Amino acid sequence: MEEVEQQKVNKKVLYSAVQPTNALTIGNYIGAIKNMVAMQDEYTCFFAIANMHAITVRQVPAQLRQKTLSLLALYMACGLDPNRCTLYVQSHVPCHAELAWVLNTFTYVGEMERMTQFKDKSAKHADNINMGLMDYPVLMAADILLYKTDVVPVGIDQRQHLEICRDIAIRFNNIYSPTFVVPEGVYPKVGAKIGDLLDPSKKMSKSAENANGTIFMDDDRDTIIRKFKRAVTDSDSEVRYDPENKPGVSNLLSIYTAFSGKSIEEAEREFAGRGYGDFKLAVGEAVADKLAPVQSEQARLLSDKEYLNSVLKAGAERAYKVASSTLSKVYRKIGFYQL
Ligand code: TRP
Repeated sequence: MEEVEQQKVNKKVLYSAVQPTNALTIGNYIGAIKNMVAMQDEYTCFFAIANMHAITVRQVPAQLRQKTLSLLALYMACGLDPNRCTLYVQSHVPCHAELAWVLNTFTYVGEMERMTQFKDKSAKHADNINMGLMDYPVLMAADILLYKTDVVPVGIDQRQHLEICRDIAIRFNNIYSPTFVVPEGVYPKVGAKIGDLLDPSKKMSKSAENANGTIFMDDDRDTIIRKFKRAVTDSDSEVRYDPENKPGVSNLLSIYTAFSGKSIEEAEREFAGRGYGDFKLAVGEAVADKLAPVQSEQARLLSDKEYLNSVLKAGAERAYKVASSTLSKVYRKIGFYQL
């Protein structure tokens, strides 16, 4: 029923995936999840849990399994609705691995060796520079191309991967005939990114050295308020948005507006003549107030594993329909004998 509707209205396809590894931060929430929720009606959306990408660095099996479900529950708790978008686990749709194999033969070793993230991760995991780590961008290209994706919203760190995906698609289309939709990357505007609370010049990251600069989606109220109390500000005491001269305060204002729904101007007026102590407490409370219902909904969903499984099963089936049609087209073009 929904599928018929999705096909009737000719919406553009949006594809995104997140690895079920570390906890997500409020930076991910503001920069990605909130937008995904807002876009789920405007586009035909596929959101994958990229567990096949995750194993390119060693994972603890029980944790990988658990994080897969908890990421699904978090997505849903934030407002991604399995009736309006397709939520699925990458390994549940075998077409990803199958297309990646074909695309490997249209990708040069030299191109992969030059990837910035491959070089970074090779340095970080020098004892495990496996083929999967090197092949990561090809699997990502397969993810995107299988769904005839028009747009891919990603962070700047994934830009090189998206560019190689486009190159591979164009290369294949030129050798055979138009087969793949060539996707566009959509990158967040500069300034849209949330900085670390202790060093606002750095992006708030799930792998920051000091966890006190990062608010995780599963931090409890006391932790959130404590972390905001310690956030760096500056030596005057004016709550004013000026990223150049007041990076700490401006970062807090960005967070406050994202979580309270108020504008920067409203927030500046609200805290005029009040000290930073008041301001930081208010930011912490706004974030904690917003996260509390998300966290309890996530916990409620996680206690109903049967329901979550049914969501993933339906998602995988819907994804498979689209993915297998693309794969079969590719197999035909390259000359695989099909039954
Ligand atoms: N590499 C992405 C990341 O770590 C995750 C990812 C996997 C992805 N496949 C994708 C993102 C396809 C967008 C489209 O952020």
